[in-house]
Amino acid sequence: MKILLGSDSDVKAYLAFENTEDIKEVAIFNYLKENKLFTGKLGETYVDIDGNGKHKILLGLGKAEELNHEVIREGFFKLGKALNSLKVKSATIDLPKFEDICSKKAVSSVAEGLLHSQYVFDKYKSEKEFTKTLETFYINALDRDQEKAQLALDEAVSIMEGIYLTRDLVNEPAITLTPVELAKRAKEELEPLGVKVTIYGKEEIEKMNMKAFLSVAVGSENEPQFIVMEYLNDKTSDEKLALVGKGLTYDTGGYSLKPSTSMDTMFTDMGGSATVIGTLKSVATSKLNKNVVGIVAACENSINGKAYKPGDIIGSMAGKTIEVKNTDAEGRLTLADALWYAATEVKASKIIDLATLTGACVVALSDVATAGVTNNEDLMREIIKASKRAGENVWHMPHFKEYDKRVLSDRADLINTSKGPMGAGTITAGLFLGHFVKDIPWVHLDIAGTAYIDTPRTYLPKGATGIAVSTLYNYIKCN
Ligand code: BES
Ligand code: MG
Ligand code: ZN
Repeated sequence: MKILLGSDSDVKAYLAFENTEDIKEVAIFNYLKENKLFTGKLGETYVDIDGNGKHKILLGLGKAEELNHEVIREGFFKLGKALNSLKVKSATIDLPKFEDICSKKAVSSVAEGLLHSQYVFDKYKSEKEFTKTLETFYINALDRDQEKAQLALDEAVSIMEGIYLTRDLVNEPAITLTPVELAKRAKEELEPLGVKVTIYGKEEIEKMNMKAFLSVAVGSENEPQFIVMEYLNDKTSDEKLALVGKGLTYDTGGYSLKPSTSMDTMFTDMGGSATVIGTLKSVATSKLNKNVVGIVAACENSINGKAYKPGDIIGSMAGKTIEVKNTDAEGRLTLADALWYAATEVKASKIIDLATLTGACVVALSDVATAGVTNNEDLMREIIKASKRAGENVWHMPHFKEYDKRVLSDRADLINTSKGPMGAGTITAGLFLGHFVKDIPWVHLDIAGTAYIDTPRTYLPKGATGIAVSTLYNYIKCN
């Protein structure tokens, strides 16, 4: 679907709030209201066909005083779905200026909602249930500055392209999306946009001394890949943000084998890496004047005769030794080396990592929020601010000093699960990672609950959500 500024279609959409008194272009509006056939509730739609066969569609946006970007996204998501089920090819909305809503943001929220409504992952379905009929949607930006409206629209489209890519990668099963395939997809998607993608294979990973990463990778026939994606588009600045993503293309748990009911969705355990790749796609498409380097240590956590075992003591690129208490706490081992690489080789000025890291995160926050752990409160605050603009939830987990010693091992420097009293698994996993970022400002985002959901919510589909792409984009743009 294309979204254009202008007005040229058969179907016209009209916005109504719960307290809208009249819409003169929709003759039956009052009749509908009086008979409660259309009340203006958020996401409600009503289709009217007049004497000329011209469609009019009403979209409810709820209470006028409750309008915000998220409401606009949700409303237009519903409109997009409705237009599609009516097999409409093109539609126009006259977008008025809303009080208290930034004019550009209104345009981008409309576009985001509409684009969310058109996402499906059905490449493996022989019979497609969703046929996309909506080809063009016109936003008539009325008395706005058209140039600014176009920029806002373009930006929304780039963010959504990143989100679509992230979703496609996460939804892809492990049988096709191996580490090699993930690296290939990153290269294919990003290089045409001016991102330099370097892929290191097993031998090079060995040379770099990434012993923790390799310990996880060794149990699989599928070769690990270390993927570095450089988008350097501000030569005047020394600032360089590293985005590090967990890239487990499958997590069986290893010898600490997962029960089958927890294993079946573990093809999504590369969600962090997909977010990094999707974000780079959005950032590069928008040509932001920033320096961002994506880093992914991609491998599979599986079992063979060489696989690492509970009780092993392994090394790491940082030189720190790690006691492996549980081979299912593999993500932090791969990230340890990827973070150290970000800190020492990339020499990043800030680091953000994204990972489907802990089941404990799902227990604490469900599929509603991403958990944040940090060594720098200011950076965390900026990310939370960006997440609010994106309509996404990030929750800063507490860091009490009592947690610190739980990741220190009696047999080695660190332990990959937490020692002592149980609980706080998301925090201790984050603190473990904190040992590999030196003193560089860093935020860890645990997306275990939010990257892939069973129950669709507002404009998020069942399955991969593409969560955090928009938060990161907003953070990068404004910092
Ligand atoms: N990939 C899992 C975490 C996960 C769980 C992601 C549910 C998405 C949904 C991770 O590698 C893992 O297995 N973590 C263990 C850590 C534990 C052994 C300390 C967990 O959470 O059980
Ligand atoms: Mg695991
Ligand atoms: Zn995992």
